[in-house]
Amino acid sequence: MGHLVYLILAAVFSVTSTQFIPPYTEDCRKDMYPPNGPTFKGGVSWYTVDLDLHPSKRWAAVITDKKSDLVTMIQAIRDLADAFVPSGRLIELVDITLPLMADTLPKPFGDEIKGISTVSGIPLGEVVLFNIFYEVFTVCTSVVAEDNKGNLIHGRNLDFGLFMGWDAKNKSWIISEKLKPLVVNLDFKRNNQTVFKATNFAGYIGMLTGIKPQMFTLTMNERFSLDGGYVGILEWILGKRDGMWMSFLTRSVLENANSYEEAKTRLAQTKLLAPAYFILGGNQTGQGCIITRSRELSLDLLEIDLKLGRWYVLETNYDHWEEPLFLDDRRTPAMKCMNQTTQKNITLETMYNVLSTKPVLNKLTTYTTLMQVSEGKLESYIRDCPNPCMPW
Ligand SMILES: *[C@@H]1O[C@H](CO)[C@@H](O)[C@H](O)[C@H]1NC(C)=O
Ligand SMILES: *[C@@H]1O[C@H](CO)[C@@H](O)[C@H](O)[C@H]1NC(C)=O
Ligand SMILES: *[C@@H]1O[C@H](CO)[C@@H](O)[C@H](O)[C@H]1NC(C)=O
Ligand SMILES: *[C@@H]1O[C@H](CO)[C@@H](O)[C@H](O)[C@H]1NC(C)=O
Ligand SMILES: *[C@@H]1O[C@H](CO)[C@@H](O)[C@H](O)[C@H]1NC(C)=O
Repeated sequence: MGHLVYLILAAVFSVTSTQFIPPYTEDCRKDMYPPNGPTFKGGVSWYTVDLDLHPSKRWAAVITDKKSDLVTMIQAIRDLADAFVPSGRLIELVDITLPLMADTLPKPFGDEIKGISTVSGIPLGEVVLFNIFYEVFTVCTSVVAEDNKGNLIHGRNLDFGLFMGWDAKNKSWIISEKLKPLVVNLDFKRNNQTVFKATNFAGYIGMLTGIKPQMFTLTMNERFSLDGGYVGILEWILGKRDGMWMSFLTRSVLENANSYEEAKTRLAQTKLLAPAYFILGGNQTGQGCIITRSRELSLDLLEIDLKLGRWYVLETNYDHWEEPLFLDDRRTPAMKCMNQTTQKNITLETMYNVLSTKPVLNKLTTYTTLMQVSEGKLESYIRDCPNPCMPW
């Protein structure tokens, strides 16, 4: 948790001068669905990713469409890097050293990243940076719930961009805003059949939010912890490469696992580069869990258990057996709204209400995804959080 404390304190420091005004919290939202009004910024378009193509060609359609938004986003990262270390030295270093990393990534990830660089014209090192980036700065809310007919519903807010440049004039995070036009829905196909579907940022090849229709749903939240942090990523750069990138594991599980149980085993047992939370939903009653991971192993498994009255599991960015940081408690408001909704009334619509309530919805929230496994349904919406609104 140490890193998150520092990040948040740094963020507090960078926004206090602009005096964000309470209320940080509000009553549970109602009637937000179908999405509309000031918290709804737009829908998300669908693209097909053909897994039968060579990895370097798979992303061509997405990148061709999103190229200018991707260039704008990368420029914003460059500007931040230049503000941090003036004279362009940091990006120079990225351009020289990170291309080498593309060749160390497991198949097919290196080739996919190279293909994205070729199609977009963005230097390879910067595409690699962009792909590392999400592994380390996402703060989110994920929840899997079971209704009283045994349907499993999985929702998530993807909050990204903490400490990535606060725009005092607009009261927004620079990178979060630049990411919104990059949100895409992806239909991964093999033999012209859907293998899995996902919501992602164009240019990013790991998965944070996805569904294998009729089988399982999966989201990943960052876990900030002292027992790993970014040491694994540094080790990878230095040549010790026995762990898996977290979002490459989720991608691989969505692509290759064929049941909830198989997905659960792989997510719990594969060695990782950094700690993470995996939030997994299945297709049958009781199949919903939070896997709390250290780099080496699964520390804890919390499952839906109707006998105990636990009809949903909910994760933000804190171990569920610990109190959240008081400056960043999205868990209590989210649980309060889930409890008010009740198991009888949980649907995609009411899940959207929960995920639309501040501070579960905050200035970092780029998109909200709703998934229903039995219907193979995945819907995503770009979000905005009008003032007054918590910065995270
Ligand atoms: C932020 O402000 C600038 C002008 O000051 C404007 O061009 C831009 O669209 C604003 N961004 C958002 C997300 O409102
Ligand atoms: C792929 O499937 C779609 C419908 O699912 C069909 O319209 C299309 O012709 C198929 N393409 C090929 C190459 O089989
Ligand atoms: C649930 O998943 C299992 C394993 O993939 C599959 O055999 C079964 O048919 C699925 N059940 C439903 C109701 O889709
Ligand atoms: C929600 O309900 C659960 C189960 O009854 C309870 O443990 C939890 O404290 C409640 N949380 C809130 C914030 O109301
Ligand atoms: C559940 O939904 C029903 C029908 O829409 C509504 O009358 C009832 O008030 C809801 N219950 C709660 C706790 O929101």
